[in-house]
Amino acid sequence: MTTLDPAPIAPTLDVHLSDVDLRNALEHDVRTGLTADPKRLPPVYFYDDRGSRLFDEITRLPEYYPTRSERWILDTHAKDMAYLSDADTLVELGAGTCEKSRVLLDAMQATGRLARYIPLDVSDTTLWAAATALAEDYPGLVVSAVVGDFHRHLDQLPTGGCRLFAFLGGTIGNLDPAQRKRFLVDLDCVMDAGDRLLIGTDLVKDRGRLVDAYDDAAGVTAEFNRNVLHVLNRELGADFDPSQFEHVAKWNEDDQRIEMWLRAMSDQSVRMVDLDLDISFASGEEMLTEISTKFTPDALEAELEECGFVIDSMWASEGDEFLMTLCHPHC
Ligand code: AVJ
Repeated sequence: MTTLDPAPIAPTLDVHLSDVDLRNALEHDVRTGLTADPKRLPPVYFYDDRGSRLFDEITRLPEYYPTRSERWILDTHAKDMAYLSDADTLVELGAGTCEKSRVLLDAMQATGRLARYIPLDVSDTTLWAAATALAEDYPGLVVSAVVGDFHRHLDQLPTGGCRLFAFLGGTIGNLDPAQRKRFLVDLDCVMDAGDRLLIGTDLVKDRGRLVDAYDDAAGVTAEFNRNVLHVLNRELGADFDPSQFEHVAKWNEDDQRIEMWLRAMSDQSVRMVDLDLDISFASGEEMLTEISTKFTPDALEAELEECGFVIDSMWASEGDEFLMTLCHPHC
């Protein structure tokens, strides 16, 4: 280290979601979802500690290509992305452990412009740990972490500088068309002229390959899917018997998406003490736990344009498995 090296700057953490907010959202989502027909649960509740570990395991499965494909695009093209966006600030939506951001941060550092990193995530503990580690590793980088939900707190993100917004991993595929539209229009509203959006999307491909990626031979995805029942048991005093629910992954051709369902293997009745709610499942009844939408480049371009974005560039992985798109607001 030379005397010219800047010192690490302590990160800041701006909290827009309290424990009470998170609890209210959980209670509302579960009550609404389990009294709907068909029953459904939002995928955000997969990710407690165990669920996050299982997802991490999924990303290393032979069948689950999206993480490796996206990583390949980032490794191969991050320099072009940094150069084309010419940004000094990276905003990462749904940052998690901030691991993928490092590839982008390195590329932005190489342009000599990198000044600030703004990760947004719902989990304050994960975010704080990641922000602290990152600030150590990038001396001189201002890390302004924001605890919030990308559906509700986009307008709370710090402004100023020239920002590259990154929404990676194909997470946008978890949103249905109406949610995607709202999210993209909201994002378009908070982005300033000169800001850019980098978005990772999984591509439509051979149906067998898609289904296998969500129904792996080792059964990790099945365990990940059932994990949401363990979460409800713990958080809401529910008495689901996860062993009585079967993991189902289906390709929905009309909506171009993989759907994960949990199918009751026998008649079940479940009590959720904290919600004062009793729910019954008929044998064979299925509950929707996740959608993972797949795109074609043309469909994505049309959707982005409809929401006010102009495409700068698209990069596909080898074999056209996954796509990363850089775009900017129209005006
Ligand atoms: C993290 C939402 C991108 O949809 O592929 C992986 C989650 N679910 N296997 C995806 C997931 C089952 C993943 N995302």
